Amino acid sequence: MILLGVNIDHAATLRQARYRSAGATHGGAIEPDPVELAFRCEKAGADGITVHLREDRRHIQDEDVLRLGRSKTTRLNLEMACTPAMTEFALKLKPHSVCLVPESREEITTEGGLDVVKHRDKVARVTDAMNAAGIKTSLFIDPDPAQIEMSARLTAPWVELHTGAYANAYYAAGRAAEFARLVAGARLAHVAGLVVNAGHGINYVNIAEVRTIPHLHELNIGHSIISRALSTGLDEAVRTMKALMNP
Ligand code: PXP
Repeated sequence: MILLGVNIDHAATLRQARYRSAGATHGGAIEPDPVELAFRCEKAGADGITVHLREDRRHIQDEDVLRLGRSKTTRLNLEMACTPAMTEFALKLKPHSVCLVPESREEITTEGGLDVVKHRDKVARVTDAMNAAGIKTSLFIDPDPAQIEMSARLTAPWVELHTGAYANAYYAAGRAAEFARLVAGARLAHVAGLVVNAGHGINYVNIAEVRTIPHLHELNIGHSIISRALSTGLDEAVRTMKALMNP
């Protein structure tokens, strides 16, 4: 069965649109509360919760992540940049896993994943620290052989293949080629001993093809689930995605 990690950042985006300067992140009339929604996702069948604590704090806030971290029922995946400040934060929080993502333009490959070849030393420092603390590290990379081979050398146990280029090409001529890259990347990562996750731009239409990528362990999905929840409710949005992933 392919596991579902729900990225709840966009629930926080909605809250921040109104309450950015409120000081508090929950309680009273401050809504929506992404932490409450995280519990709902899990009740509806999500296998984990993903949040990206961005440097600009544009959606999820430190207090949200700390509240999720205190909850013993949540399998928390913290997406973060490879900075000393975020490393310190993660070591104190001790989430189930961290996913290293690019924060600034120069860290990004042409497709948008973290360039672990160019930034191998920086990535190695974080991966080593997480391995020592018993926190699993996932590297959010493009499905390119050089990135996959370096990920294996960096001893991160997981990779998350960036599905954004495929999702963008879904209605265009490049779709088959992008999908073939993901399939080849997943095979290569699996052979290299890496657990294969994927994410970005996955929705209720392209999931029919995405789920056929070999060796998939977990998909991290945010925008489409939170968007659908506005009309169907979160429970249905999570349940339907989980069912489409594992028909
Ligand atoms: N995986 C990673 C590493 C991400 O940074 C994001 C958010 O951009 C997602 C998955 C979820 O992407 P989406 O919101 O498009 O489903």
